[in-house]
Amino acid sequence: MTSVTKVVIPVAGLGTRFLPATKAVPKEMLPVVDKPAIQYVVEEAVAAGLTDVLMVTGRGKGAIEDHFDHVVELQHTLERKGELDRLGRVTASTDLARIHFVRQGTPLGLGHAVLAGADHVGDHPFAVQLGDDLIDARDPLLPTMIAAQETLGGSVIALMEVDPGQIHLYGCAGVEPSDPSAGLGEDIVRVTDMVEKPDADQALSNLAMIGRYVLSPAVFDVLRQTPPGRDGEIQLTDALQTLASMPTEQGGGVHGVIFRGRRYDTGDRLDYLKAVVQLGSDREDLGPDFVGWLREFVASR
Ligand code: UTP
Repeated sequence: MTSVTKVVIPVAGLGTRFLPATKAVPKEMLPVVDKPAIQYVVEEAVAAGLTDVLMVTGRGKGAIEDHFDHVVELQHTLERKGELDRLGRVTASTDLARIHFVRQGTPLGLGHAVLAGADHVGDHPFAVQLGDDLIDARDPLLPTMIAAQETLGGSVIALMEVDPGQIHLYGCAGVEPSDPSAGLGEDIVRVTDMVEKPDADQALSNLAMIGRYVLSPAVFDVLRQTPPGRDGEIQLTDALQTLASMPTEQGGGVHGVIFRGRRYDTGDRLDYLKAVVQLGSDREDLGPDFVGWLREFVASR
């Protein structure tokens, strides 16, 4: 039984990269094959033992709440018709976890969204997942991050090597090897510095921060003191930079887990298309027909 059981999922962002699809539909509700992106994220949380989910929502995000609720009329109809397979697909999202919602108010940045979870989280380490960032279920990341946090304390972030030409799209981390006596392997590093979306010549490394965190509750006090940073938003990266320089006894210290598995940023149009193709190809029910068609389609281009 892990000590980390709560996860905060901020879904209050405006999704401007995906307009006009996200004008009236939250980007987290865009379907990846036949499930909205946010359902994959919650399934990942539950698989990692995180059964208490808090979503930080905003205006126009009601469809997310509805998706995790019962739809009595639809369920009765499917039951009456004996369509139990479809019924199972409808109720799968409802029975996943205890899901709570809080409103962010004004979307003042990711750090501000995480701070909206302070009362619900209380005084224990907790996870954060970004609602448009998918980690492939076959490459679990959160369990490694939770284990690292339990061994090392402080906060743990997820890092991924990216092409140096792409680093300006991400938070970027400067790292050094972690304490070898902890025996955690070379993919767990100590994070010394972080900067949000740096120009290529300001980058600390090619290690990009991706949308998974296990945070010390000390982050809340730091966020309360963090002024707006890049793009005028209260940046989680700036709060983590402060935590990295604080002593462990005060909840400080930041480590990184370097992730080498499959990840899809469904808030980005090109990555979204890749996610649909990859996950669709791997599906037992759709994959064989889809891949056959895809081969012919590519050959004809
Ligand atoms: P993004 O920057 O990817 O989200 O924030 P965005 O602002 O919705 O997207 P674009 O760039 O305009 O297309 C990362 C995560 O933080 C959440 C978003 O919902 C997303 O999951 N977020 C961001 C909030 O919940 N509140 C905010 O004020 C900002």
